[in-house]
Amino acid sequence: MTRSRIESAPFLGEYMQFRRSGIDFWTDVGSRGSVVPVRFGAQEFSVVTDPVIAEHILLSEVKSYPRDRRLMRLNRGPGPELMFNTDNWDEWKWRRRLLTPAFRRQSIAGFAETMVDHAIRAAGELPGSVVLQEAMRTMTMRMILQTMFSVTADDEVESLKESFEKSSDVVAGRASAPVPVPYWVPTRANAELHKLTKYRWRVLSEIVEGRIASNEPAGDLLDMLIAEHLEEDGRSLGPMDLVGEMSGIVFAGHETTAETQTWLLYLLSRHPEIEDRVRAEIESVVGDRRITVDDLDRMPITHNVILETMRLYPAVYLTIRESDETFTVNDVEIPAGTRLVINIRGLHVDPRAWVDPMHFDPDRFTGSDHRHRFQYIPFLDGPKKCLGDHFAMMEMRLTIPTLLQRLRFDYAGERPPRPTSGFTMSIDNGMPMRVQRV
Ligand code: HEM
Repeated sequence: MTRSRIESAPFLGEYMQFRRSGIDFWTDVGSRGSVVPVRFGAQEFSVVTDPVIAEHILLSEVKSYPRDRRLMRLNRGPGPELMFNTDNWDEWKWRRRLLTPAFRRQSIAGFAETMVDHAIRAAGELPGSVVLQEAMRTMTMRMILQTMFSVTADDEVESLKESFEKSSDVVAGRASAPVPVPYWVPTRANAELHKLTKYRWRVLSEIVEGRIASNEPAGDLLDMLIAEHLEEDGRSLGPMDLVGEMSGIVFAGHETTAETQTWLLYLLSRHPEIEDRVRAEIESVVGDRRITVDDLDRMPITHNVILETMRLYPAVYLTIRESDETFTVNDVEIPAGTRLVINIRGLHVDPRAWVDPMHFDPDRFTGSDHRHRFQYIPFLDGPKKCLGDHFAMMEMRLTIPTLLQRLRFDYAGERPPRPTSGFTMSIDNGMPMRVQRV
C-alpha cells in the first residue's frame, strides 16, 4: 500500500484535516495513491481510489467484502437485520431479491405522474429568495413518501422529514468520529435518535399494518411489495421487516436526489451556455405541456447534465467495506480485516482518467466511453448497486425540465458553495438562490 500519510496528529491522526477540508479531503487522499491509509483517532481505514481495486471489492470478490462490521454494530438498533445494515451475504441477498422487482424500470414508470405533480407544486412555491437545498429536500420527501406509502398530508410529511434528516446527521457524525459512540450509550444525541426512530416506526408501522389489514390497494410501492407476498425459501418479510426496509429506502432516496438536483441547478446557473442548451432541448421536445416518461429518451442533454453533476458532486461520495480474506490485487496487498473506504468522489475527479476533471462538461458523456467501468460509480456497481437508480434517474429527468419550464435560478451566495460531508454530500450554505418565473 502507498504509505504517504497526510498531515497527521498523534491522537487524532488525519481527523482535524478531514474536519477542515470536508469533501476535498477525500480528493486529496485520492491524489496520493491507489490505496492510502488514513486514521481518525481510533479508526483506521485504507482509502481506495483505483477502479481495478474497486471492481475487485465491489464485483469480483464482493462476498469477501461485507459492509464494515464496526459501523454496522455501532448503528444497529433493536429492530430486525435489514438489507442496509446486515453484513451477512445470504441475508442481504434474500432481502434484496424480494425487494428488487418493485424497483424495476417498468414497475416504477407509474409513479411519473406523482413526481411531476410534486415538481409543479415546488415550482409554484419556489419563486423568491430561497435556500434551495431545503426546498429540494421537501419536494423529494413528498415524492418518496407518496410513491412508497401514499403519505400526502403536509404535517405528516414535515415531521417524518425532520425525523429522517436528524437521524441521518447523528449516523453520519458517528461514522467519522475519532472515538465513535455506539447507539446504546445514553448520550444526548443517542437519546434524540431513539426518540426520532420510535416516532418513525410508530407512524410507518401503523400505515403498513393498516394496509395489510384493510387489503385495499393504494397504488403505491407498499402495495407492490405486499402483492408479491415477499416469501421465499419458507421465510417471509413481515410487517416490521417492511417498515425497516422501506424506512431505509426513504433514507437512501431522499437527500440523495435532493442534493444532486440542488448542485445541478447551481451548475447550470454558473454555465449559461449549457443552461441554454438544456432549455432549448426542453422547448423542442416538451414545449409548454407536462413532461411524460415517453419524452425522456429524446432528452440526451438533460441526461448528460445529470450524469456530469453526479460525477462532480456524487451524493454518496464514499462507501465502506471490510476485507474477510487477504488478497493481492494490482500489486497491492489488502490484509484480512482492513477497513476500506471506496473513494467514489476521488475516482470521479482523478486526473489520470478525466481531462480537466474539475470542469463541468456534460459532453464527456456523449459517444463511447473508454474509461474503466468502476471509474464512474455514482450509484455504485456490482450486486450492491443502488436499488433505486431507475427511480432516481426518472425523478431527476422529470423534475429538472418541469422546474426549468417555469423558473430561472440565479445563485445568490457571496462565495461559491462548498460540498460538505454528511450522510450524503451536503452543501455548506444550503445554496441560496434567487428564483424567478420565466
Ligand atoms: C441521486 C440519487 C441516488 C444516488 C447517487 C444513490 C447512490 C447509492 C449508492 C452509491 C448506493 C450504495 C451504498 C453502499 O453500498 O454503501 C446506494 C444504495 C441504495 N440506494 Fe441509492 N442512490 C440514489 C437514490 C436512491 C433512491 C431514489 C432510492 C429509492 C427509491 C435508493 C435506494 C437505495 C437502496 C435501497 C440502496 C441499498 C441497496 C443494497 O443495500 O442492496 N437510492 N445508492
